[in-house]
Amino acid sequence: MDYRKVSGSDMKVSVIALGTWAFGNDCWWGHQDDAKSCDVLSEAIASGINLIDTAPIYGRGHSEEVVGKFLQKQGLREQVILATKLGLKWEDKNPKIFHDLTPAKMLEEIDASRKRLRTDYIDIYQVHWPDPDNPIGKTAETMHKFYQKGIIRAVGVSNYSVGQMQEFKKYCPLHTLQPQYSMFERSIESEVVPFCTESNIAIFAYAPLYAGILTGKFFLDNVPIPNDVNRKVKQIELTEPRFSINKEFFKKLKNIASSYGKTLTQLAINWNFNQEGITLAIVGTRSVTQLKDNLGSTDWQISPDDMEKIKELLEWRKEMCIGTGRDLSDKKIK
Ligand SMILES: NC(=O)c1ccc[n+]([C@@H]2O[C@H](COP(=O)([O-])OP(=O)(O)OC[C@H]3O[C@@H](n4cnc5c(N)ncnc54)[C@H](OP(=O)(O)O)[C@@H]3O)[C@@H](O)[C@H]2O)c1
Repeated sequence: MDYRKVSGSDMKVSVIALGTWAFGNDCWWGHQDDAKSCDVLSEAIASGINLIDTAPIYGRGHSEEVVGKFLQKQGLREQVILATKLGLKWEDKNPKIFHDLTPAKMLEEIDASRKRLRTDYIDIYQVHWPDPDNPIGKTAETMHKFYQKGIIRAVGVSNYSVGQMQEFKKYCPLHTLQPQYSMFERSIESEVVPFCTESNIAIFAYAPLYAGILTGKFFLDNVPIPNDVNRKVKQIELTEPRFSINKEFFKKLKNIASSYGKTLTQLAINWNFNQEGITLAIVGTRSVTQLKDNLGSTDWQISPDDMEKIKELLEWRKEMCIGTGRDLSDKKIK
């Protein structure tokens, strides 16, 4: 496992991190057994993954609870870098979620997260999404207070544009950005990545498997199409005409993966954390079987020639997809 430094901190993070959204056992990812989540945590840490990414909104506190309870019980808190988030809230019996980055709510949230995670401090504390109703400067000032108090070791934002990061940095040091990034969602490449590189901001890429699509399993392995229909990417990519285009794409990509003795999943993750400016890939992992596969993405290199072939294949797919549905890479940050 390779580790990379988070600039401005003393932390070195593994090139793959464990994403724990599914541990929330919520409507987005469907049923997830806590015992199975604990097996994944145990095996991931034993295998050298040192960053665990969670958020209060994942299962409305449940993902943080599972992670916190596990780390306390196993005495592993000091061995991991815990990354969580703030800024989204929920109400009982209301399926909707809301932004809330008022300073009072932020203070309440950090205490609630520390309690669920059973820790005094959070290693990387990330603003989950910008809140259109609260100025970025105010959010950054509150984050700065947490940082100065030493209850967070590094400051992060997620789903921020360059302009939003520039504003944030006027009031608070910024160590990490967590954007969506994968072979199928590359909108950060043009502006966000160069800005972060120049500004020494580490990039933690989320959804590197594009919510599981890049495993290729739905196209080549006859894995039944899941019914978690609220994942828009799945609705689009698993429906014709995209389905057939994707199937063709994965057949070609698999030839490259196989030439290294690797799976499509391993190729997609390795490609991800080896792209310009990317520090690590946060891979959502629900079972030890998936984890073992995902760990095979580390400790090898895709050759420059094959990187070029992958680039051409992605361009081919992009052309084929024109006019076949909403291009998710055009999504605007609210
Ligand atoms: N900051 C944000 O706004 C934000 C947003 C989204 C995610 N995140 C973070 O990023 C993490 C990763 O994103 P994500 O979970 O949405 O998407 P992802 O990592 O692209 O995909 C994860 C899903 O792919 C499937 N999978 C993973 N490994 C597999 C394997 N080896 N073989 C077959 N299937 C496999 C699993 O789902 P199935 O078994 O159900 O197919 C898994 O839940 C999250 O857990 C969270 O920590 C952050």
